[in-house]
Amino acid sequence: MPITAIVLAAGEGTRMKSRHPKVAHKLLDKPLVWWTVDSARKAGADRIIVVVGNGADEVRAIFSNDADVECVEQTERLGTGHAVRVVRNAIGSFNGPTVILYGDTPLVTPKTIRALVEETTTHHNACTVLTMRPPNPTGYGRIKRDQSGAVLAIVEHKDCTPEEQETLTECNSGMYCFCGSRLTANIDKIGTNNAQGEYYLTDMVDIYVGMGEPVSALCADDFSEMLGVNSRFQLATATKIMQLRINERLMDEGVTMLDPNLVWVGPDVKVGRDTELLPQTMLWGKTTIGEECVIGPNTRLTNVQVGDGSNVEETVGYDTVIEQRVTVGPRAYLRPGTHLLDGAHVGTHVEIKNSTIGEGSKVPHLSYIGDTTMGSGVNIGAGSITCNYDGKHKSPTTIGNDVFVGSDTMMVAPVTIGDGALIGASSCITNDVPADALALERSKQQVIEGWAAVRRKRMQEED
Ligand code: UD1
Ligand code: CA
Repeated sequence: MPITAIVLAAGEGTRMKSRHPKVAHKLLDKPLVWWTVDSARKAGADRIIVVVGNGADEVRAIFSNDADVECVEQTERLGTGHAVRVVRNAIGSFNGPTVILYGDTPLVTPKTIRALVEETTTHHNACTVLTMRPPNPTGYGRIKRDQSGAVLAIVEHKDCTPEEQETLTECNSGMYCFCGSRLTANIDKIGTNNAQGEYYLTDMVDIYVGMGEPVSALCADDFSEMLGVNSRFQLATATKIMQLRINERLMDEGVTMLDPNLVWVGPDVKVGRDTELLPQTMLWGKTTIGEECVIGPNTRLTNVQVGDGSNVEETVGYDTVIEQRVTVGPRAYLRPGTHLLDGAHVGTHVEIKNSTIGEGSKVPHLSYIGDTTMGSGVNIGAGSITCNYDGKHKSPTTIGNDVFVGSDTMMVAPVTIGDGALIGASSCITNDVPADALALERSKQQVIEGWAAVRRKRMQEED
């Protein structure tokens, strides 16, 4: 059954004190509004309409690659009822379930949205309201029921009598499922005769009850799903809940965490069984980690693929492929285009960019390797680097199999080093080295016997 979701995201979010629209602020590595859209999609919505207003272009850009999302601009913010009026044409003649969600309420789950849709379709409701019982109902719209328990209306906090503010503790979450065609046919019946002079979407309940249309309420048992983000503190609170939700799922799937409060994993990341994530690890984007790996501590990987049995310690990596049984770090920097083949080792204070490190090859200490294709069984001595940039152009370095590069070697690209070649320590290699050759670029060492002792004596005499 097709489902349409409408995500209200035009609000200003003044309490964020930001130049960016509230819903563009990140929760883990995704914008707030992304989470609501994702839940709607996972609940089965095949069409998602986002009402944008404040910072419209920035919000639109978030969904520029999503064919199922369209953004409609609400140029003036005249209330939640007005926001839905603005998307009337986008809803068109659709007469299926139409779910209303908020872009600043990111924790609602697909399961809850599905329950809301199911309640609506089984009872042919014109509207089902998702309600909640928050610890403090101040500020929320209240659900008014008759003696038999049937929903009568939603009364905003500011429009309640003091007695109603006390006694009506069931609150409106702001999420609903409407029947699309009945919503577009009746949305104009909403007026602005209320304490705030706004078009209240909540008035639809009262209107439908008066028309004899079926309306009901579904009370969510987990209040945290309804948590709205209005401030940076609430953003951190929502982030903490989402972080632990994801980490609990990963642990259920067989991932070990020394402390789940100190591991942050984005929603698209996959982690294999018996992998251990150590504190201060962040896994973002489309990162995937294999089985039996150890990642962290102090590691941030963005769009990195890690094969089974690899260890990545104190490392920052982007757009990198790490195959199986590879060891990285501590303190490595893997930049885009890095590919570490099986059994490779990248050690401490090493930076790799756009390079392939072959099977079992080692770059253990203090090196920069850029634009390089390296074969298998290579050993790069401490402090050796590829000079791939002449200030204007980038040039490639090719290193064959089983090459031994002595410490403090400069390989000035473009340059090719043949299989089995050996480079003496401290060489500056500017010409190709044939296979199995020794290349040495180094001035001859002088030794003057006794010179240091003579100098020491002279200095003592001067004192
Ligand atoms: C609304 C509900 C209230 C409910 C509460 C739950 C109404 C009248 N009241 O109150 O019953 O308890 O949510 O949080 O609906 N928005 C737009 N365009 C607008 C106005 C709002 O896109 O013109 C968006 C906002 O960005 C926000 C959401 O709609 O994400 C809610 O709007 P807000 O004005 O904050 O409603 P509340 O006063 O919280
Ligand atoms: Ca030298």
